Amino acid sequence: MMDEHGRKINYLRVSLTDRCMLRCQYCMPAEGMDWLPLERMMSRTELLRLLRLATELGITRFRLTGGEPLARRDVVEIAEGIHALPGVEDIALTTNGILFPRFGRDLKRAGVGRVNISLDTMRPERFREIARRDGLGKVLEAVDLALELGYEPVKLNTVAVRGVNDDEFVDFARLTLDRPLHVRFIELMPLGSEHPWAVGHFISALEIRERLAEAFDLEPVDDHLTSAAAAQQQGGQAGPRGAGPARYMQIPGARGTIGFITALSGCFCDSCNRLRLSADGKLNPCLGSLHERDLLGPLRAGASDQELLDIFADTIYHKPAEHHMLELTDDTVGRQMSAIGG
Ligand code: GTP
Ligand code: 5AD
Ligand code: SF4
Repeated sequence: MMDEHGRKINYLRVSLTDRCMLRCQYCMPAEGMDWLPLERMMSRTELLRLLRLATELGITRFRLTGGEPLARRDVVEIAEGIHALPGVEDIALTTNGILFPRFGRDLKRAGVGRVNISLDTMRPERFREIARRDGLGKVLEAVDLALELGYEPVKLNTVAVRGVNDDEFVDFARLTLDRPLHVRFIELMPLGSEHPWAVGHFISALEIRERLAEAFDLEPVDDHLTSAAAAQQQGGQAGPRGAGPARYMQIPGARGTIGFITALSGCFCDSCNRLRLSADGKLNPCLGSLHERDLLGPLRAGASDQELLDIFADTIYHKPAEHHMLELTDDTVGRQMSAIGG
């Protein structure tokens, strides 16, 4: 359905759990995370009921996120359940890759078509520094497996962190030369408890692009295939590469592309097509919004489908025109990124 600003909302990011086996510096504190108690998390049955209602309002694309979505044991059954809902056109996964070698094959069979894998460095020592755990080998294995299994597209999410991985940007861009990998540089967002740290390590997409331009002649990629902005103009239909906020460039002749997610420097809110559902059943109309609406509480209290649909529809209709992430202060920053699902 349309929101009050005329945007077609057809994409729901579903956080399956707030838990994760890594502790990336920009996402979580080293210790002392307050995980959601299990009884406050949606069961598979509850989740699939809400997602079925979402399809009634015109949501056709789903993305499974976390925390780490593969940390949830019934992730394959959840994917199968979504695949069986009416009108579903696209099921995608955002993962840190650690458990992907174990689940990748079954998820593909269950109907997941696209995967985004987080990879901020290709150096084992540095991986340990950023994620505070080991695991680079598994993540690289995940990337190979995703390509081998025919996920299309396979995207890499690289959060750009000044002084931490900015000397690897050119190496990441090179990954697109021989394989159909889409590397996306993400501007670091100041969210959750890591807010003050993130502010000091920010690098803009413009600066990343300038650094890459010293090594390659980048050319723009045909926008109508890739952008959410173009998708909005075409009534919500996005091309093969996705429905998200990235803008893509390419090294001439390369098989993959290089994307930039200007989460802070460039507002893509006017073409936003998405909503977020947290693992505890709260519907959030915007990543930078504090106005989430509870769906699980009413569901457990016996709400009818129509009552739940009304909450859904009202949240979609009143989706904010844009985010105010830069105005959030230490006192008002919302959930941890891991609880929102990125
Ligand atoms: P596709 O283009 O459909 O593949 O999805 P995506 O790129 O949105 O998905 P992914 O989960 O890989 O997210 C990549 C980055 O984009 C993460 O850092 C997200 O936080 C960020 N992102 C995704 N959606 C939004 C959004 O609505 N607003 C903002 N500011 N950032 C977003
Ligand atoms: N800023 C930017 N990107 C982030 N991610 C997690 N936290 C942040 C942040 N503070 C990224 C992850 C993952 C994606 C879902 O979001 O690296 O690739
Ligand atoms: Fe886990 Fe992703 Fe957060 Fe890293 S960024 S701790 S992989 S949820």
